[in-house]
Amino acid sequence: VTKQIGVGIVGAGAIAAAHAGAARGHEGAQLVAVYDIAPERARAACAQWNVAKAAASLQELIGDDAVDAVIVCTPPASHADAAIAALDAGKHVLCEKPLALDVAEAMAMVQAAERSSGFLACASARMRCNPAPQAARRLIDGGELGDVYHVRFSSWRLRLRPGHHYAPEAAWFLNRSLAGGGVIIDVGVYQIDAALWMLGDPAVVSVTAQLRRFTEVPPPPGVVQDVEDHAVIMLQCEGGKSAVVETSWVSNMAPPDSAIVLGTKAGLRLDPLTKITARQVTAGEHDPMLEGMRNGAGEVVYFRAAQEQLFPYPEFSAGNPSQVTTQFLDGVAAGVQPQTSGPEALQVTRIIDAAYRSAKESRSVALAEAPAGEAISR
Ligand SMILES: NC(=O)c1ccc[n+]([C@@H]2O[C@H](COP(=O)([O-])OP(=O)(O)OC[C@H]3O[C@@H](n4cnc5c(N)ncnc54)[C@H](O)[C@@H]3O)[C@@H](O)[C@H]2O)c1
Repeated sequence: VTKQIGVGIVGAGAIAAAHAGAARGHEGAQLVAVYDIAPERARAACAQWNVAKAAASLQELIGDDAVDAVIVCTPPASHADAAIAALDAGKHVLCEKPLALDVAEAMAMVQAAERSSGFLACASARMRCNPAPQAARRLIDGGELGDVYHVRFSSWRLRLRPGHHYAPEAAWFLNRSLAGGGVIIDVGVYQIDAALWMLGDPAVVSVTAQLRRFTEVPPPPGVVQDVEDHAVIMLQCEGGKSAVVETSWVSNMAPPDSAIVLGTKAGLRLDPLTKITARQVTAGEHDPMLEGMRNGAGEVVYFRAAQEQLFPYPEFSAGNPSQVTTQFLDGVAAGVQPQTSGPEALQVTRIIDAAYRSAKESRSVALAEAPAGEAISR
């Protein structure tokens, strides 16, 4: 019988419950300790999840020999401290997204992982772990799309600002110094992570962003918001590749979210997963509203979009939030780096920093302008 992975959770709030559920349901893992800065929350979580130890401090949790892996579920301002302490104690770490408040913190975390025997992974892989993106990536890896050159992810919420329309007790979501930013940090981080992954991690040349706060829908009295509600980000990548990420907490737009991947042989829509290719049709088959096109030989030809739905249901954005935990525990058990790796999450952090700088300065920001280790004032 192989030893079970002892899991410790730091921060026993909303998302910790999803991680706890996955750890408890994983046959190779056991939840052994919980720490929260609010001791009553740790105790309540232990009672609910049937965990033996409510640690009295972070040190007590990461100093516990029964803990092999630590899942950091605090607001972003305390991700780096907790993750670095755990890595330095030789533990594996799954850190909630965003990895860190800024590039300097993210660098320090990646360096801690490099000097440690443990894995560092970030839960920004949550969108990648859904079945449709996994299937999309298999098609990409199998060459079925040809050269993948553009990804566009759009996620619109009508009225779903955290700390306001839901989770009213978690007003930290709207506070830049605790959260690191707004909807980019909350939702855009998943889209950027998945976009780079689908594009095959190209070098990112520049980032251009426009941000907006939806002041027409203010937060409740007493709640201060200094972060964005709406973001449009464009990544210019090497090799003629690009990504556009759009996301809002508050907008006058209805779901569904949309996600498309363009390749030179085929395109994909992800919700539900559908493969699109151009099929040449005969004159009799063509839509009479469409003009014929001339091919290279000067003949008039007609094309129709051949759409092959590969998944029966839309699940791209509504995947199970704890799949990322399961793949982390599977990776730890197998000795394989779980997603999102520290260096990849650092790259996502660089892009986010550059997006904030681009919006602030109303210009395109070269990623090389944001050297590793430089903290950027937002
Ligand atoms: N709520 C969601 O739907 C959701 C989804 C995905 C990811 N996340 C991410 O998970 C993290 C936590 O979000 P949440 O919604 O669970 O927040 P939350 O406010 O519900 O819970 C955070 C918990 O951390 C505790 N805490 C705060 N500072 C701490 C510290 N220094 N040490 C130990 N405990 C501390 C708080 O007491 C609280 O119990 C964030 O990074 C967020 O971006 C949240």
